[in-house]
Amino acid sequence: MRVRADSTPPASIAADVLAVPIYKEDRELSGDLAELDAASGGAISRAIEWGEFNIVEHYTALIDGGDLAADRVLLVNGVRRGRGAWRARRMASTATRRLQGRGASRLAFWLRDGEDADAYVAAAVGARQGTYRPHTIYGRVRDTEAMLRSVEELVFVGDSVPAGDDLERGVIMAEGVEFGRTLANRASNDLYPEKMADVARELEADGCTVEVLDVEQMQALGMGALLGVGQGATHEPRLIAIKLPGWETASPERRLAIVGKGVCFDSGGISIKPADKMEEMKHDKSGAAAVIAAARTVARLNPDAPLMAVAPMVENMPGGNAQRPGDVVKAMNGKTIEVTNTDAEGRLILADALHWAEQQGATHLVDIATLTGAAMVAFGDLISCYFARPREWGAEVARAADATGEWVWEMPLATEYRPAYDSAHADIVNSGSRDASLIKSAVFIADFVTKPWVHLDIAGAAYLSADKATNPKGAVGTGVTTLAQLALDFARGS
Ligand code: BES
Ligand code: ZN
Ligand code: MN
Repeated sequence: MRVRADSTPPASIAADVLAVPIYKEDRELSGDLAELDAASGGAISRAIEWGEFNIVEHYTALIDGGDLAADRVLLVNGVRRGRGAWRARRMASTATRRLQGRGASRLAFWLRDGEDADAYVAAAVGARQGTYRPHTIYGRVRDTEAMLRSVEELVFVGDSVPAGDDLERGVIMAEGVEFGRTLANRASNDLYPEKMADVARELEADGCTVEVLDVEQMQALGMGALLGVGQGATHEPRLIAIKLPGWETASPERRLAIVGKGVCFDSGGISIKPADKMEEMKHDKSGAAAVIAAARTVARLNPDAPLMAVAPMVENMPGGNAQRPGDVVKAMNGKTIEVTNTDAEGRLILADALHWAEQQGATHLVDIATLTGAAMVAFGDLISCYFARPREWGAEVARAADATGEWVWEMPLATEYRPAYDSAHADIVNSGSRDASLIKSAVFIADFVTKPWVHLDIAGAAYLSADKATNPKGAVGTGVTTLAQLALDFARGS
């Protein structure tokens, strides 16, 4: 999808469709919107009056453009929540998704309010997100060509349109999101640890250095926590590290590592999960997908960023050689862990990956993981939660999320709960009782990190169990833009 800006007024832009946000306040059209309505010959107000578009119930309405230069007008429900970027991204994905299969190859988008550049970047990302079809990964090309048609050119119109460089950032970030979500959507028989390593090696073309540790190398390093999780699977674990050119040249005081949970399939292991919806656990590698996609995005936008992406990759499987509940493993940092629940595997692989990242010289860390069902229960599919130590570092991650239109919310890292994880047989257990289990999952990981660190739990937001107006069922690429933006900001020293 090409993206450009055009300061032509919305009434005069020639396009297949002109998308316009309609807000609650617009029950009475006024200002610029009233002017557009007048230029359309009253097409917009007539549609709203007739009930074709009701901002409480409808996401979109597609109406004739009347006297406008655009053939049609797409009214988009513009919820006024928070910053412009979240709203812009959501509206744009709703618009392009609504137009799939239609003859709308050129979409003009009038964001209306004096939005900043971040909002336009987020809208560019959203627009591409709305054209995504997971079916094309494995499906037969049985869809007619017409069904696969989608927006090819996006033109932002109005007074506040940004410069081309900003929009270019949007296009590259959008590609990154799509790359990451397709990795997360790929089936476990197709994408297992070594295959993910192949994907990572492709980033060498973007100037990155890619290192892949195999089982022997991890054994030598003492990564007992990670290896224990992977030992039941036929597909062996790997630890992937992608370093941008800027990682080597960076000052040793400022190096960012992003670490993503890469469980290619989470059956639960011996503490096996129920069969219902178990197929969704192929996306338990969404964190790894996000860090690899973010690394690729940043490598293309600013290769001098001091960034390393780390993806511990395993399959969590039952079997004759699988880890048993009660097993005691030794993590790379020397702590012993009593594995009371083999389904609490994400924190085990993160423990070793985070420690390894620190040993590589990371001064700031962010991990991202589909870690707990509790996060999904508490936050649903719109919001990711995070824990930070110190909280100032968390605020920087939250700022990056805000700027790119992702929604995150802080949770307390209450290390006061640490005694709940005391073990009679080892230094720590990996799973406790249900109360505060979301908080305790972060408190567990905290035992394995010493540097400034943020833990992002994307269990709810990474994957949709059903189609929505904004995205189709499946992985959505959660975290890619947040991590990419964070690394870009970090490189600027802000
Ligand atoms: N991958 C799951 C968490 C998950 C659940 C992600 C649903 C996305 C959707 C994780 O490994 C897990 O099984 N967590 C357990 C932890 C428990 C055993 C302490 C959970 O949340 O039930
Ligand atoms: Zn898991
Ligand atoms: Mn699990």
